[in-house]
Amino acid sequence: MSGIDTDCMTLSRFMLEEQGRCEGATGEMTQLLNAISTACKGISSAVHRAGISHLYGIAGSTNTTGDQQKKLDVLSNDLFVNQLKSCFATCALVSEENETVVEVEATKQGKYIVAFDPLDGSSNIDCLVSIGSVFGIWKRKSEPGPVAKEDCLQKGREMVGAGYCLFGSATFIVISTGCGVNGFQLDPSIGEFILTDRIMSVKKKGNIISCNEGYAKYWDKAITEYVQKKKFPEEGTPYSCRYIGSMVADVHRTIKYGGIFLYPGNSKSPQGKLRLQYECNPMAFLIEQAGGMATTGTQDVLDIVPTDIHERCPMILGSPDDVKEFLEIAAKHYK
Ligand code: AHM
Ligand code: MG
Repeated sequence: MSGIDTDCMTLSRFMLEEQGRCEGATGEMTQLLNAISTACKGISSAVHRAGISHLYGIAGSTNTTGDQQKKLDVLSNDLFVNQLKSCFATCALVSEENETVVEVEATKQGKYIVAFDPLDGSSNIDCLVSIGSVFGIWKRKSEPGPVAKEDCLQKGREMVGAGYCLFGSATFIVISTGCGVNGFQLDPSIGEFILTDRIMSVKKKGNIISCNEGYAKYWDKAITEYVQKKKFPEEGTPYSCRYIGSMVADVHRTIKYGGIFLYPGNSKSPQGKLRLQYECNPMAFLIEQAGGMATTGTQDVLDIVPTDIHERCPMILGSPDDVKEFLEIAAKHYK
């Protein structure tokens, strides 16, 4: 009657129940996701009052790839790093904003490695378009002690969890620990993420294509042919074109409505723009868990063996039938 669900499924409660079902669980994953949830609440609050709190604009520094850091990038990274370093569940952190791996001090180490982009879609911050955080989780392979380089360069296939948080018209976190994908909307009145989308799945085929056509001049033949086919089909209705330019928002729409998202390589950037460990792998993990596919055009994103924590990778993901149709065209052009 009051509009308050007295038995609501919060993210913490959901994780505790999952933990109870998982034999041998130590609770570290629950601690880790609680830390991420706290970081995301902090970012959500900052994003929604950025103008008032003078958080728009650049921080005056550059990140590992030479991009100018926005004030909100720096704040979001501090939230992720500080919360994750102190949750007793992680041993190493890989962030888009840090050139090298952040090692967690020995007395606070747990078994997980987290790679994250604390605030993706930087170019959309100052005009209030949706932005998001992305994260992927692996278990360390080395014995306790200093973390090995190989621990942070595991394949996406070896991930044990991933998620993103979208700061849009509402704040929404999507998480998978390998048993399906679940979505939780932030209820700002109680400061809790509440389960609203249980077992999310992507449509078999959609009718939306999402890519930056400003790069069309530099595309290869496979991308050019595929996009042309969707816009000028020999029969049927053309696909709608939707491109926000914030990967989290574009991928979230793809999971909710179906279709295909492409950030391919091009002649100017052969590996595209998106980063393998903290952008492509988490999204590929989630889309596969939701019944979709993620490919580079020649292999599944999750099968790439990383050689650098900040390496880039082309990514085409979405509804399985749409990605398969793209792969048929790709097979003709990519030998
Ligand atoms: P960022 O990590 O600097 O924010 O860049 C990543 C973003 C993605 O969210 C988005 O898909 C892409 O950049 C858009 O790039 P472009 O402007 O080249 O289309
Ligand atoms: Mg990014």
